[in-house]
Amino acid sequence: MALYSEKVMDHFRNPRNVGIIENADGIGEVGNPVCGDIMKIYLKIDDDIITDVKFETFGCGSAIASSSMATEMIKGRSVSEALELTNKAVAEALDGLPAHKLHCSVLAEEAIKLALKDYYDKNGIEYDKEMFAGIGEDDEIVEHSII
Ligand code: FES
Repeated sequence: MALYSEKVMDHFRNPRNVGIIENADGIGEVGNPVCGDIMKIYLKIDDDIITDVKFETFGCGSAIASSSMATEMIKGRSVSEALELTNKAVAEALDGLPAHKLHCSVLAEEAIKLALKDYYDKNGIEYDKEMFAGIGEDDEIVEHSII
C-alpha cells in the first residue's frame, strides 16, 4: 500500500490557497521545533465569515497537504466553525496520514487557531483564553549543532 493517499499527493502537488493576504484580519504562525517546519495562515474575515484564507508553509509534503486541505475546510465557514477544526478532521479529509506524519496536521490546526486568536485580539473580541492554551508555546526553533 502506498505510504500517502492520492488526496495527500494531490494537495501536495497542487496546493490550494498558497500565498499571503495583504492586510489580513488574522495571522497565525507556528513551527515544530523537532522537524523545523513552519506554517503561516492568513485570514480575511467579513461579518464573522472567513471569506479568504491563504497559507505559506516551509515544510514537508504532509505539512503542505495539511495546510491546503485545512484552508479549504475553513473557507466560507464562520469563525466558531473554524475554531472547531481538528487535526484529526484534516488528516481524515486527506484519507489519512502515516502515524509519524500526524504532527504535520497539528501544525495546520494550531496555525488556524492562532490566526483566529489574532483576529479576536485585533478586534477587541472577548474570548476564553483556555481555547488557545498551550498552542504555539513550544515553537521556539531549537538550534542543533551539526558537528
Ligand atoms: Fe514536521 Fe511535517 S515533518 S511538519
